Parts: sequence; structure tokens; C-alpha cells
Amino acid sequence: MSSEPLQDLRNRLPVLAQTAYLNAGTCGPLAWATADALADGTSRAAVVGRGPAYFEVLVSAHARLRAAYAEALGAEPADVALTTSTTDGLGRVLAALRLQPGDEVVTSTDEHPGLLGPLAALRNLSGVTVRAVALADIADAVGPATRAVACSHVSWVNGERAPEDALREVGRDIPVIYDGAQGAGAIAVDPASLGCAAYTGAGQKWLCGPVGLGMLWVSPAWADTLRPFALSYGNLAEPARGLDAEPWPDARRFDASAISAEMASAGATATELLADIGWEQVFARSAGLADLLEQTLREGGYEVAPRDRTPLLSVVTPDPPAMRARLADAGVVVRDLPGRPYIRVSTGVWNSEQDLQRLLDVLTA
Ligand SMILES: Cc1ncc(COP(=O)(O)O)c(C=O)c1O
Repeated sequence: MSSEPLQDLRNRLPVLAQTAYLNAGTCGPLAWATADALADGTSRAAVVGRGPAYFEVLVSAHARLRAAYAEALGAEPADVALTTSTTDGLGRVLAALRLQPGDEVVTSTDEHPGLLGPLAALRNLSGVTVRAVALADIADAVGPATRAVACSHVSWVNGERAPEDALREVGRDIPVIYDGAQGAGAIAVDPASLGCAAYTGAGQKWLCGPVGLGMLWVSPAWADTLRPFALSYGNLAEPARGLDAEPWPDARRFDASAISAEMASAGATATELLADIGWEQVFARSAGLADLLEQTLREGGYEVAPRDRTPLLSVVTPDPPAMRARLADAGVVVRDLPGRPYIRVSTGVWNSEQDLQRLLDVLTA
């Protein structure tokens, strides 16, 4: 990306004016346009009221957001449900598997609480067995009792990628559920070609939307298996049929029930801003910056956690919370990971080489 379009993008993301913001793995930078869409939509609703016209706006904002998320994933809009977070999508889809006592779910040892929480609930409340192995070995761990595999597409700990080819084979027989919190908007996904049953992601991270949005891609091939429990008005094809109402056959059956018009419009605005750059360029530049940082750190004798080509990088530091605080004092925003020896750095298409240098200046001082 040449300097002019990069500067234009950076001007749209006000946090970058003062801050080396390297934290999209938690929450991406909010654009002025995104904040305006949220504020304007709320103000309009306050002034005009929330009658039928508001719901017309809501329906078209949902369609716009669904299309924007689908494009970011490389998927069909009809296969994308709108959720409130990655965690929300994971809970919905894991419940929809209707696992029984004695069924086994294989997961990895480095998962986020957003996946571990629903898995622990399945174990504690439904008698499901949960077995955790290293992410790289997950496909080999599948055994006769395994009814599902649920794991990160990209690890939140170090940016490692799941073994996609081996999991594609697994996915021919049993449902593979990807936690794509660090995948959606961060790397090229194409869930259909991953051969998974479901792929869930976040709106507030790499897609730079407000907190409170996410997506759940569901495979049409697993439609008979994935039957949701939490159904409301928008999930039903003919709500007026009362107890006889059936859910939509497409991914709308998994939509969260309370995504406002203003939230959907803000999420779509954020995602479209990135789409306008071109997704290939977004993915290439984001991962390229992390690769560059890795090379510089390794040359300087620093230990970087093993990673794949993603925009996440974790570097070993003796006291990560203290280092995070020192970086914050210098205007560099990253995160530390509880109980791990790392500072985690997230590089987005919006970041500049100077942002990386500001990080290095403090890290290597
Ligand atoms: C791998 C992973 N899964 C799940 C989550 C939770 O995401 P959300 O806040 O969208 O539920 C995160 C957030 O950091 C994550 O990194």
C-alpha cells in the first residue's frame, strides 16, 4: 500500500493520530464513519421514533451487514447469521449440535474462554466428554466417540493456524466448528472450502465494528444437524404460525434477536471501509507487517512464539503486564495474555512501519 492511501485510511481512524494501536486482536480501531453511523442512527431513532419505518431501516441494515460479513469471509450471505459476538455464535452452534451424554468433543489446549465456556457447560450440564490436545494434533485426536471438533482457526495466543487440510478430511464425517475470532477480517477464510460445519467470528476485532456484533457461518450441508434452540421473531419464516412456525432454512435461523438498526449500520460501515481497500490487500498487508516485525525481533535476539502467516505475533518478555503498561505509557497499545510469557501484537492494514518502530523502541530499550 503506497503512502497516500495508507495516510487516507489512517486519517479515518482517529485513534491512530496519537497512538501506535496494535490491538485489533481485542478490538480494532473505530473509524469516524463507524462512530457517526452509530450516533446518527441512534439520534434518528430518537427523533423519528421506532415505528414501522425504523424496522424497515433495521431490515435493510441487517441485509447490508450480512452481505458485508459474507464478503469478508468469502461466503454467501444466505449462509451467514448475525450474532452479537464470537462467543454468542459458539454458544448457539454448540447447543444446536444437541450432543448427548458420552459424546466427545475434541478441542485444543490453547482455546479462549469464549469456546471453553460453552464446552465446559456441555461437559458439566450434558455429560459430554471434552478432550484437549495441541492444535497441531487435533485431527489425529479424533476417535470413535468424537461427535464434533471445536477449535480456533487462528490461535489467540500466538497466531498459529489450525491444521486446515487435516480438519477438512475430518469434516467429511463429523462437524468441525471453527472459532474464527482471530480469523474473520484477519486472514482469507472461505469457510466452504475449509469443509467446516460452522465458522464463528467477531465484528469488533479485525472488522473494526462496535462491540456487540459478530457472525456465524453455517454450512448448508450440515443444516439437518445444526438446529437452533434460541428462536425468535426474525428466525422464523412465518412467525404468525405460532407454535407451528418453522425457522428459516438459511442462516437467518441463527441470527441473534436484538441487533439494532444503528448497530448493524455501524458494523456495515466499518466492514465496507476495509472492503473498499480490497480484502486481498487487507490480508496481505496485515500479515506482512507481522512478518516484518517477527524478522526484526528475531534478528535482535528476541523470542517470538511459533506462529503462522497471520497478523498476530506474540513476543516473550520477562514481565508482560509491566511491559504492556510501559508500552501504554509510550502510546503503544498491545495486550498481555493471562498466565503466558507474552506481549501480543496485532498488526492491521492501517498500521505503519513507524507504529512498529514505536513498539520496538520500548520493547528493546
Ligand atoms: C480465539 C478467540 N475466541 C473467542 C474470543 C471472544 O470473542 P468475542 O468477544 O467476540 O466473543 C476471542 C477474543 O479475544 C478470541 O481471541
